[in-house]
Amino acid sequence: MERLEDRVAVVTGGAGGIGLALGRALGEAGMRVVLADVGEDKLEAAVAELHVQGIDALGVVTDVSDPSSVQALHDATVKHHGAVHVVCNNAGIGAGAEGPLWEHEERDWQWALAVNLWGVIHGVNTFVPTLLAQGDEGHVVNTSSGNGGIAPLPNTPQYAVTKAAVVTLTECLFGQLRSVTDRVGASVLFPGPHMLRTGLFESWRTRPERFAKLRPRQTPYVTVDDLEAQMRAAGIEPRYTEPAEVAERVVAALRTNTFWILPESEHTDDSIRARADSMLARHNPDYLSPVPGGGGGRK
Ligand SMILES: NC(=O)c1ccc[n+]([C@@H]2O[C@H](COP(=O)([O-])OP(=O)(O)OC[C@H]3O[C@@H](n4cnc5c(N)ncnc54)[C@H](O)[C@@H]3O)[C@@H](O)[C@H]2O)c1
Repeated sequence: MERLEDRVAVVTGGAGGIGLALGRALGEAGMRVVLADVGEDKLEAAVAELHVQGIDALGVVTDVSDPSSVQALHDATVKHHGAVHVVCNNAGIGAGAEGPLWEHEERDWQWALAVNLWGVIHGVNTFVPTLLAQGDEGHVVNTSSGNGGIAPLPNTPQYAVTKAAVVTLTECLFGQLRSVTDRVGASVLFPGPHMLRTGLFESWRTRPERFAKLRPRQTPYVTVDDLEAQMRAAGIEPRYTEPAEVAERVVAALRTNTFWILPESEHTDDSIRARADSMLARHNPDYLSPVPGGGGGRK
């Protein structure tokens, strides 16, 4: 996009973590920002925080898994600002299921698919027709993850499956948009190169009732602190990327119309290469990280 100033950006999952950093960075770039999140109190605090920084921010309580809620977000945005130019379909959750995937509950799948995949589909279906009808510049940014988007961590199947799907969906979107306009673009975001210390790893704290587990967990839910302890026990020192760094990369990608918002890092490139090499050589996936407590697989 040639100009971000005075244009309107919608960010889902905007009340915390990467979404709030996106709101801040887009606001600092001169955009009017609409933060959408299912967490009402967090959203209010996030909007207040951006106001203190002098950013034009509006909060709209939204559940991205519900198409009528996303439609209401669209309508509130257009009513308030008269237009919309950038849509960041960023809301996401980690289902946090335990044990082998063939024992996971359908509700683990339903929750992850509803937010991480249907949330993006609803965002695309609701906003793209308006982006096109406006005849102005516009852009859609869908948040994937290296986990699934590049290669899956086998012990997080729901998350990895949805994030792989987000890459494919965004590639299809890019290909189709390209055939009808040169004014509306699409990008897929891979936050990183390291993990971000956000609420994602403790999504279970706000798991909605309609996706609540039916069977009691065998092990306690994992917190970020537990994760860090597990990594250190495995001899890995946790490293983090700041949400602001990811958000800056998104702003730069909007300005340059860059599809792959992928951190430049040796680790990322090694992951891409390892999977591509395995496919090209018709080798079984030896690039997958081991599942804690898991045995060896059939070759
Ligand atoms: N944290 C990481 O290391 C990391 C890495 C790669 C990708 N991501 C992705 O980045 C995105 C943002 O995650 P984050 O790390 O900032 O986590 P986060 O938990 O801090 O933020 C996610 C936000 O989404 C909101 N949300 C959850 N369900 C929603 C729903 N149904 N409707 C609307 N909002 C909803 C939450 O309330 C929360 O504010 C996610 O898509 C996540 O998968 C994160």
